Amino acid sequence: MLDTSCDVFENVMELARRRGFIWPTSECYGAVAGFIDYGPLGAMMKRRVENIWRDFYVIQEGYYEIECPTIAQEAVFIASGHVKGFSDKMCQCPHCREYLRADHVAEGGNIRNASIMSNEDLGAAITSCTCPACEEVLGNVEVFNFNLMFSTTIGPGSQRVGYLRPETAQGMFVDFARLLRFYRDKLPFGAVQIGKSYRNEISPRQGMIRLREFTQAEAEIFVHPNEKNRHPSFRRYADYKMPLLTSARQQNCEEPVEISMFEAVKNGIIANEYVAYHVALTHELLVTIGINRERLRFRQHLPDERAHYATDCWDAEIFSKRFGWVETVGIADRTDYDLNAHAKQSGTPMTVFIQYDEPKKRECRRIIPNMSVLGKQYRTKAKAIFDALKTAIPTPMGVDIEINGEKIHIPASLFEVRDEVIEIRGEDIVPHVIEPSYGIDRMCYAILEQAYDEDTADGEKRTVLRLSPKIAPVQVAVFPLMTRDGLDIIAAEITRILHKTGILAEYDDSGAIGRRYRRQDEIGTPFAVTVDYDTKENNTITLRDRDTMKQVRITIVELPETIRALVDGKISFASLVYSKIL
Ligand code: GAP
Repeated sequence: MLDTSCDVFENVMELARRRGFIWPTSECYGAVAGFIDYGPLGAMMKRRVENIWRDFYVIQEGYYEIECPTIAQEAVFIASGHVKGFSDKMCQCPHCREYLRADHVAEGGNIRNASIMSNEDLGAAITSCTCPACEEVLGNVEVFNFNLMFSTTIGPGSQRVGYLRPETAQGMFVDFARLLRFYRDKLPFGAVQIGKSYRNEISPRQGMIRLREFTQAEAEIFVHPNEKNRHPSFRRYADYKMPLLTSARQQNCEEPVEISMFEAVKNGIIANEYVAYHVALTHELLVTIGINRERLRFRQHLPDERAHYATDCWDAEIFSKRFGWVETVGIADRTDYDLNAHAKQSGTPMTVFIQYDEPKKRECRRIIPNMSVLGKQYRTKAKAIFDALKTAIPTPMGVDIEINGEKIHIPASLFEVRDEVIEIRGEDIVPHVIEPSYGIDRMCYAILEQAYDEDTADGEKRTVLRLSPKIAPVQVAVFPLMTRDGLDIIAAEITRILHKTGILAEYDDSGAIGRRYRRQDEIGTPFAVTVDYDTKENNTITLRDRDTMKQVRITIVELPETIRALVDGKISFASLVYSKIL
């Protein structure tokens, strides 16, 4: 059983505001719900999370990053279905006038299946529920659809409608033809994007979990539809196990099951190797940034919950003591839905030519028009008739075709019919898309909530953020024991050396050494260097570990390499202590 008793949300958010991780935006004018600012430490931590994401997807997977505008023209979102269907069910409290998510009100009142009810049924179902804002019983309310996209117009005085993107994904789809050329016309390939997305959420009351402007990191991987079970590196994760909450287990109210990716694909639990590979990769990435395995599971979407474009979809859910299981990453097989939709809307083909290993032979009947007669007889229409004849089916009397609504009979005397065997070298196919879609802000919140801890140090209460050294904003603190006798000069020089090797070191000489440790513990700085009188004698410093509070003495020369190895997870502090004892 996961612990929901202690609500760390308030403590985490208080610390985040006070120490410069996250705070409400434009506070001096009164904050606006759904928008946050990342302060100096928060912005640095977020950058580190994003860079680990890049390490996995761009460097290891080889999917290059692109950057598209956050505003796109209306046609993009007509094709994607967002203009018509990207809405939540909303109602207004008749007492306090607050706008509410009707399905959330229903969930709060233990009404099941709210997301698949009609507006009328949902309205009737929530009459006895209480308003989460004023806590009055709602009574009769009308439920209606509210489109979540922010709209704008492009250019001064313009009637040209644009929208702030609700996902980064569409940028990769509309760039498909150029990306295909970049990847030299070969499948599979992928493109990724990290950037802001916008959704005009109805009542965002969940801190960093539900924002109106948030950061997504998305990969769109284009694959041959018949090769989704042939991921070139599937072996890497074939034996990888994690808790899977399949749709069948949800329907039977069963707990998640630990199962390998190989078994999950073999038994038809996960649709194909590509989806399974990315479920496992997501698990590895989340653990790398410090998410506790015990608080991580993958939940399959129920058939009536899946987006209209997806054949299989899994959410990485992270357990929050305040919010329960929170969807943080979605991994979907989006099929050819998006490329077909954009091809239709834009008139640009979004296909890949797949060459056969051996050309195929096919018998076909071809119409060879007599162009000299056709040209004279039909003049300006001759070209259109010529094109239409290419696909027409001939009869002994001739062919009936239609040009711009006009029916024209072409007698058999104006063309010749030839039976031929032609060689077909390949075919045009529309690739399918596998999409892992990460919400960076939800990842950052989960990191902070899980890292927050309180213990005692030197008989006093200590607040400590147990951040992974890989994502801690400040990587090492450097303290002179005293600000005299040259200790401060040595400490400042050590700080400069660490900066030169790309390590974010923070020099601090104010207050007692214990206070300085506490300040760094609270912002998650994993290591602290103290320069003391022995340093002057033998060029050694003490290196302290945040979590165990143990210390080890090493030379200044060893320090940059040691910190780098500790931060990258190449060595542990325990192994460092052990190596110094020997
Ligand atoms: N392209 C697919 C897509 O956008 P999604 O499930 O709507 O799928 C993906 O969003 C991720 O983006 C979510 O799992 C979540 O982490 C994050 N996300 C979505 N809406 C959000 C919001 N209002 N505030 C913060 N993060 C959000």
